[in-house]
Amino acid sequence: MTRPNGPTKKPTTTESTTDDLSRRSFLRQGSALSAAASLGIAASSARGDSVAETLNVGIVGTGGRGGGAARDTLSINPNVRLIAMADLYPEKCHSMRKKLTRRYSDRMAVTDENIFGGLDGYRHVIEHPNVDIVLLTTPPGFRPSYLKEAVDAGKHVFAEKPTCVDPAGYRVCLEADRKARAQGTAIVTGTQYRRQKNYMEVMRRIHEGAIGDVISATSRYCTSGIWNRPRKPGMSDAEYQLYNWMHFIWLSGDQIVEQAVHNIDAMNWLMGGPPDTAYGSGGRFTRPKGSQMWDSVAIDYAYPGDRLLSFQCRQIPHTQGENGSIVYGSEGIAIIGAANKGASITDRAGKEIWSMKGDINAAYRQEHKDLVDSISAGKPIVELAETAASSLTAVMGRLAAYTGEQVDWDFVAQQSTLDLFPKELKIDESLPIASYAVPGVTKLT
Ligand SMILES: NC(=O)c1ccc[n+]([C@@H]2O[C@H](COP(=O)([O-])OP(=O)(O)OC[C@H]3O[C@@H](n4cnc5c(N)ncnc54)[C@H](O)[C@@H]3O)[C@@H](O)[C@H]2O)c1
Repeated sequence: MTRPNGPTKKPTTTESTTDDLSRRSFLRQGSALSAAASLGIAASSARGDSVAETLNVGIVGTGGRGGGAARDTLSINPNVRLIAMADLYPEKCHSMRKKLTRRYSDRMAVTDENIFGGLDGYRHVIEHPNVDIVLLTTPPGFRPSYLKEAVDAGKHVFAEKPTCVDPAGYRVCLEADRKARAQGTAIVTGTQYRRQKNYMEVMRRIHEGAIGDVISATSRYCTSGIWNRPRKPGMSDAEYQLYNWMHFIWLSGDQIVEQAVHNIDAMNWLMGGPPDTAYGSGGRFTRPKGSQMWDSVAIDYAYPGDRLLSFQCRQIPHTQGENGSIVYGSEGIAIIGAANKGASITDRAGKEIWSMKGDINAAYRQEHKDLVDSISAGKPIVELAETAASSLTAVMGRLAAYTGEQVDWDFVAQQSTLDLFPKELKIDESLPIASYAVPGVTKLT
């Protein structure tokens, strides 16, 4: 088998892409401030500050990862400060502000007036005239529309993965990616393995031929379980779903999208872009009543060049966990462990020829360093299209399992009309909870 050239007409995997249109060079042209205002270019430029000085950060979604992302950017970037926060529950912002102030008091500048609650709170952060960078760390269902609004407002963005949970959201992401490139604002996403040294090094070696031709791979994200937040008295249907978001597909995308997208993204990186087809199955035995999630799925992804990825993910208590990927080449095998488990390459006889330890926390920080450095250098990174393609690859696998059909990339990318986000969302209203998917009954749309 010859090494395939990768897909045509499909997004390809690249190192972080940059757009050469620097905000500063843009602002040097003509009537800078009025142009910035009309494009909504980020606040530091519109204020006339040097972007290398202070960049003001606002955060939307102050839960577990939101706290991590805020900490990561404050710890690695001496020139950022946090000035605005939004969460459905403003008390979560207050609590995060208190924790971060203990460590970063000199760069915590969030006044009470700049803490926003409720479903519209995010808009105050995105439209805040002094916010330069918005961190989007809500549940994934909100990501496409918040990304679009942040880009429309001219902000630089850090967006957690996954960036979409359905094909409609994927297309919104592509539009936001295009607009960010055109106007010269950055979008970095929370696919930290792309910035983890052992991942970067093993991928470089594989792409340079260290294991010969890549023939197939297995990738697994199998864990023991995930949280479930029982409904509290007085919660409306809508509030309960937002509160227990992992269990509702319009918000999380199910495990394959919400969590296992990390490994799917690594496999798209390996293969040079998304697969052509997905076929698979799965089911549910242990999820709490009312949850729409499945316990497990196993998907065969066929990539261009007759390369197969055998993928599975599972969240079932008391089962053996496994998280990582194995890549089978004509001349060797690469083992890529998730998180801090490191990577290694052996020849076909099993002799180790290379290995490297992993440091996931450094990768989490590097995302924010790369974002800020790219803004300061006037070469903003825009990597949303690539992460959206990985998110859609995960969606494609979910749809294949949910429906029992083979699902093609072109179908999900171009034809599918699936849009899971509720037509109207009000926190104190009824929002019917659909049942979980059943293959043969659930249709591909
Ligand atoms: N990169 C990683 O390794 C990693 C790790 C964990 C989580 N994540 C991602 O981070 C995101 C958040 O996950 P988490 O674990 O922090 O969840 P979480 O439940 O701890 O936090 C989510 C927060 O968002 C708030 N929220 C919900 N809807 C909102 C809205 N419309 N506007 C404002 N706030 C809203 C919630 O009240 C909550 O505080 C998810 O996309 C998840 O996949 C990424």
